[in-house]
Amino acid sequence: TEKCLVLGIETSCDETSAAVVENGHILKSNLISSQMDVHRRFGGVVPEVASRRHVERVTQIIQQALDEAEVRLTDLSAVTVTQGPGLVGALLIGVSAAKALSFAAGLPLVGVHHIAGHIYASHLVEPLQFPLVALVASGGHTELIYMPDHNRFERLGKTRDDAAGEAFDKVARVLDLPYPGGPHIDRLAKEGIATLDLPRAWLEPDSLDFSFSGLKSAVINLLHNTRQRGEELNKADLAASFQDSVVEVLVEKAIRAAKMKGVSELVLAGGVSANSHLRESLTLRCKEEGLHLRVPPLKLCTDNAAMIAAAGTYRFRDGQLAGLNLNAEPNLSL
Ligand code: KG4
Ligand code: ZN
Repeated sequence: TEKCLVLGIETSCDETSAAVVENGHILKSNLISSQMDVHRRFGGVVPEVASRRHVERVTQIIQQALDEAEVRLTDLSAVTVTQGPGLVGALLIGVSAAKALSFAAGLPLVGVHHIAGHIYASHLVEPLQFPLVALVASGGHTELIYMPDHNRFERLGKTRDDAAGEAFDKVARVLDLPYPGGPHIDRLAKEGIATLDLPRAWLEPDSLDFSFSGLKSAVINLLHNTRQRGEELNKADLAASFQDSVVEVLVEKAIRAAKMKGVSELVLAGGVSANSHLRESLTLRCKEEGLHLRVPPLKLCTDNAAMIAAAGTYRFRDGQLAGLNLNAEPNLSL
């Protein structure tokens, strides 16, 4: 069969990334330019600052991705780009760059859903086996997705308020830890014991939705009330207790989703999958339940364009092409 080289572009949040993927699963290059340094001093991603940084970097990142893969524009079969969800101003930069390339080089254009990308990150390591259930947990999303086959997605559950990573970042902030707080809580939790009684939002029986804002408020109230009594909480114990609460709900709902759908393949994706307790706990529970778990390496878990090119290749093969009127969709559904 003929070689299919696809360019991917991702600018949905604070990473400018371009990548080349061959035949939907062979990684030829994956360039990622993080803006963490500029957003850190604001304690979060500032949308307009993100857009400006993307527009400065995107063309050079694309050039580098092509160079590193030793691929010319004319060798490509398609240009794929994150269409949504994400920050609209940030998405528009990638979409505009992709359209310009598609127009100038006469290449097919494909718009990709960011969550589909996260799931396909695993495909770059080992081919996905269907049917599967994926848990995608990042700073912007917490979702359970069922995939009966390539390109087919059914959302089983989502967060009703904060994303899991967002909860980590907000709790880290009240503990005076730097942004993004997830890795700091992870580290601090190792020095503590999960002794504090914090809520677990199971929601309705059988619900596969998530909710983390109540937990965040419980942490803040606990801190506040102890300080009012003139006492100090052990921060490491608080970090461990908070992390336990988030991880237990993520793990048990992912297992429940796999059982409800009768699948034996579970895929973990998104930045929160860097969490060491989540990895250990999900690995253990999957073993107990006889499920096969895939966790891609960290570099593919966080936002990157290779995952977009991988997911986009299957859309391209399916003939799901975009026109030159493609627009960013901040609330795009799967
Ligand atoms: O996927 P990602 O890089 O960007 C988004 O699309 O949001 O995810 C970033 C999120 C942040 O909220 C960060 O705090 C969280 O992932 N995160 C972690 C860990 N490493 C990153 N959360 C918990 N434990 C970690 N070790
Ligand atoms: Zn993401």
